Amino acid sequence: MKILTFAATNSRKSINKHLVKLAASKLSHTEIDYVEINDFDLPIYNIDLEEEYGIPNSAHAFAKRIKQADAILISFAEHNGNFTVAFKNLFDWLSRIDRNVYQGKPTIMLSTSPGAGGGKTVLGLAENGAPHFDGKVVGSLSIPSFYENFDIDSNQLTNPELTEKLENVLSVFQKDLRVNKRFN
Ligand SMILES: Cc1cc2nc3c(=O)[nH]c(=O)nc-3n(C[C@H](O)[C@H](O)[C@H](O)COP(=O)(O)O)c2cc1C
Repeated sequence: MKILTFAATNSRKSINKHLVKLAASKLSHTEIDYVEINDFDLPIYNIDLEEEYGIPNSAHAFAKRIKQADAILISFAEHNGNFTVAFKNLFDWLSRIDRNVYQGKPTIMLSTSPGAGGGKTVLGLAENGAPHFDGKVVGSLSIPSFYENFDIDSNQLTNPELTEKLENVLSVFQKDLRVNKRFN
């Protein structure tokens, strides 16, 4: 069972990378395919570029990583109530290969931010948009006030209620994966 795992941000010190790695570490019997979206070098989407040069190999490489995965685990960073430019750009290129960007893979969507909102707005955008791109969101959770609720040194949530919520979301995800595997 391979889980494509990434944070939807290009920040080197990303808090969403901490969160998504913690979530991945709590999944059992899985192979984690952790990727940095920054490693998929892409120009800013432009139809003129696409017409002249086609879709860059990096976008095809990312689509292949989705194809090879059984499921997806993402944590979204929020910039001005929206996706980071880096993720939106990747997504736009992917959508030009195939509108079914998520390729029907069961997906967990997380978000966090230093503020009380915890990236809830971008998480809502991602979740509501997913069905239009063949996304199957089986669970989602936003973690508010990251620095008050997460200890970076130990890479753990320090808030027991949020820990429980994350574990519940992951347990539903694992059950869904087991059921789908059995009937596929
Ligand atoms: C341009 C910009 C816009 C931001 N807008 C929001 C926002 O709308 N909501 C929010 O909760 N945090 C916002 N933030 C703070 C980010 O949540 C914070 O930088 C966080 O660390 C981003 O996640 P990352 O570290 O995983 O990249 C913004 C930060 C930047 C640089």
